[in-house]
Amino acid sequence: MSLAPAPVPPTSPAESDLVRAARGLPVSRTPVWFMRQAGRSLPEYRSLRAGTVMLDACQDPDMVTEITLQPVRRHGVDAAILFSDIVLPLVVAGMDVEIKPGIGPVIDEPVRSVADVDALPSLEPEALGFLQTAVRQLVAELGATPLIGFAGAPFTLATYLIEGGPSKEHARTKAFMYAEPEAWGRLLDKLAVSAAIFLRAQVDAGAAAVQLFDSWAGVLSAADYAERVLPHSRAVFDGLGDRERGERDVPRIHFGVGTGELLPLIGDAGADVVGVDWRIPLDEAARRVGQQRSLQGNLDPAVLLADRATVDREVRRIVEQGKAARGHIFNLGHGVLPDTDPGVLTHVAELVHELTAS
Ligand code: CP3
Repeated sequence: MSLAPAPVPPTSPAESDLVRAARGLPVSRTPVWFMRQAGRSLPEYRSLRAGTVMLDACQDPDMVTEITLQPVRRHGVDAAILFSDIVLPLVVAGMDVEIKPGIGPVIDEPVRSVADVDALPSLEPEALGFLQTAVRQLVAELGATPLIGFAGAPFTLATYLIEGGPSKEHARTKAFMYAEPEAWGRLLDKLAVSAAIFLRAQVDAGAAAVQLFDSWAGVLSAADYAERVLPHSRAVFDGLGDRERGERDVPRIHFGVGTGELLPLIGDAGADVVGVDWRIPLDEAARRVGQQRSLQGNLDPAVLLADRATVDREVRRIVEQGKAARGHIFNLGHGVLPDTDPGVLTHVAELVHELTAS
């Protein structure tokens, strides 16, 4: 909650409302951005992407720059999120991953044994030049608007590697976790190292904040998450550098879907901001997470498909409930759905700003 007078309009990403809210400092108005704001519902994205495979687009710095900027120009959001994908570090390391349109990441030879884990290639930082070029171009274009870098958390990446593609139950993943604890630990260690390299490259090139996506962690019990997953996610944040010494000291956002029961642990993994989905109200999330961390969320993306009165009512509710948190970054509870009318996103960004301007 910010009772102190609002600062002057932000003049740099480090002084932006997004970074301030993430640190629990007073803001000029509640910052807002949307998970999956790049791509998805924008016609200008579809025309630019036409004829280019998703994973090629992610490795073309000019295309990454333009797609990342599109939603910032259109919606007036308070942050850009780099156009990329959580599987990109695996692809750059040389794994055989494809993104099938409308389906998601698919792997031809899933990881099913200890030998498969040991055979996985490692990510070399030197292979991320294209990414750093894109981030530097973006930082130059964005001015005072912060760029959020991101990576997939070890657990969520492991689900794709083990299942071979998207899955609802993640049963094979859990079976591997229980049956092969040592190989599981080695797999998540490897994924943590590559996620940290991927994040470091983005922060070194100028990203002002990072988000670790553990989208599917909500399928785990708190006990399993704490014992078998959290240490690896913590290793990703730790791998960013020593904050006490000022190394890559940018705000860290940590998000998963359906994580109501895991929220305190998601914070403990090393986050400044805990992402919350729509299943639990932000005032309750604030009680669970405490006043040491800020919250991000949590409009149900399906609400954006409803009538304007419903959208406005839900936005107002979330802005109110968000006041219970140390700091609040307005966002959806998960990614923008492909059928969303972009005009509604622009409206939500404007409404949040209007309701919270001091
Ligand atoms: O947020 C943004 O707009 C930035 C870009 C971004 C993408 N993927 C681009 C993308 C980000 C942050 C992601 C993260 C991501 N990717 C997650 C975590 C976030 C979440 O939604 O839980 C996950 C689980 C993935 C894996 C993935 N990639 C899936 C499940 C899909 C298929 C679903 C779909 O939208 O078709 C992708 C493909 C993908 N990633 C697309 C985009 C724009 C669509 C590809 C296309 O347009 O052909």
